[in-house]
Amino acid sequence: MRTTVGIIGAGPAGLLLARLLHNAGIDSVVLESRDRAYVEQRQRAGILEQGTVDVLRAAGAGERMDREGLRHDGIELRFAKTRHRVDFPSLTGGRSVMVYAQTEVCKDLIALQLEEGGPLLFQAEALAVEGAESDRPRVRFRYAGEGDVLECEYVVGCDGFWGVSRKAVPASLARVFERTYPFGWLGILADVAPSHDELVYARHDRGFALLSMRSPSVSRLYLQVPADTDAETWADEEIWDELERRFETADGWKLERGPITQKSVTPMRSYVHEPMRHGRLFLAGDAAHIVPPTGAKGLNLAVGDVVTFARALTYERETGSAELLDAYSATCLRRIWQAERFSYDMTTMLHRAPDATPFEDRLHLARLERITSCRAAETDLAEAYTGFPLDRRAR
Ligand code: APR
Ligand code: PHB
Repeated sequence: MRTTVGIIGAGPAGLLLARLLHNAGIDSVVLESRDRAYVEQRQRAGILEQGTVDVLRAAGAGERMDREGLRHDGIELRFAKTRHRVDFPSLTGGRSVMVYAQTEVCKDLIALQLEEGGPLLFQAEALAVEGAESDRPRVRFRYAGEGDVLECEYVVGCDGFWGVSRKAVPASLARVFERTYPFGWLGILADVAPSHDELVYARHDRGFALLSMRSPSVSRLYLQVPADTDAETWADEEIWDELERRFETADGWKLERGPITQKSVTPMRSYVHEPMRHGRLFLAGDAAHIVPPTGAKGLNLAVGDVVTFARALTYERETGSAELLDAYSATCLRRIWQAERFSYDMTTMLHRAPDATPFEDRLHLARLERITSCRAAETDLAEAYTGFPLDRRAR
C-alpha cells in the first residue's frame, strides 16, 4: 500500500487530519488498531474551544455539532460553599465554548471519512514506523491477520499516549517532561438532567468535584479519588452522597440524582515529548502530550496540532517551501505549554493532594479568591478556558 500521508490512529487527531487533508486534495490512509464501535464509545471530555468549533465547521464536520451541541457562555467556580460565575463573552470579547462530546466528534468524522475520504482501516494495528529519516517512511502494520507495509511521504503519529509512533524518535534526541498526580477522577454518566445549566468546578476540603453534561438529559460528573481507586468499590449511592457534600452551597443548591449508567476512573498526568517531529514522522495529539482533564484541553490541543500540520503540508505543496513543516514542532509546543500551564494551575488550585499542607490549602483558596475578585485574574482564566488562538504564522 502507498499513500502521501500515513496516519496512525483514528482518535480525534487522526480523523480530523484525514478530513483536513482530504479537503486540501492530499491523500491519506488511516490505520486504527481498535474496531469502530470501540472508538465511537470511548468516553472523554466534551468541551470544544471556539477555535475547535470553527475548525470543525470549516472542515464540513460541524453540522450535527451545531444542531445538538450546547453553547456555554461561562462556568461556575464553587468553594467555601459560595458560587462564582465566570462570564466568558464579556471577559474575552465574545468567545464561548461548545459542549459536544468527543464520542460525537469522532462519530461525525468517521461517517464523513467512510463516505468521502480515503481508506480508514479499523482493526489495523501499526507495529512500527521505519525510515523516518529517509524520503520514504513506512508503517509496518497488521490487518486481517496479515502483516503489511504502508509506504508514505509523511507519517503522522496520532496514536495516543500508548501508541507506537513516539518510539521511532531516538531516545537520544528526545526530551520528556512529566508529572503524575496522586489522585484521579471517578467519572460517572447518569440519566438525569444536569442540575445546573453550566459546568461547575468545585473545590472542597474532601477534594475536587465537577458537574458536566452530555445532553439536556444526561449528566457527566466527576469526583477526585486516590490514584489507584477501583471504580467498582464505589456504590452508586455513595457517589451521589459524596458529590452532594462537595457541591454543597450556603444558598441551598440541590443536586438531582438519577440512574448511573457508567463509571470509571481516569488517571491524571501531565506529559510533553519534545520534539514533535523526527525526519518525516510528525507526532500529534496525545501521542506527544497529555494534560490532566481539569480544563478539558486534550481534544483542543490535538485539533491545534493537526491543523498546524495540514496547513504546513499544504503550504509545502503550494510553494515548495518546507519552512512551516520545519517549524511544526516549535509552533505546536508554544501553544501546548500554555495549555500545560493552565491545566496544571487549574488542577492544583481545585484539588486537594493527600499530603497537602495547611499552607498550600490556604494558597489555593487565595488563588480562587483572586480570580473571583480581580477582573484581570478572571480574564486570564476565561481566555485560557475558551482557548489560545492557533499560531497564524502557520497559515
Ligand atoms: N496502531 C493503530 N492505532 C493505534 C495504535 C497502533 N499501534 N495505538 C493506538 N492506536 C489508536 C487508539 O486505538 C486510538 O483510537 O490511536 C487512537 C488515539 O486516539 P486518542 O487516544 O483519542 O488520541 P488523540 O486522537 O490524540 O486525541 C486526543 O484524546 O485522551 C484524549 O483528552 C484527550 O481529548 C483528547 C484526545
Ligand atoms: C467532561 O464533560 O467530560 C469534562 C468537562 C470539563 C472538564 C473535563 C471533563 O474540565
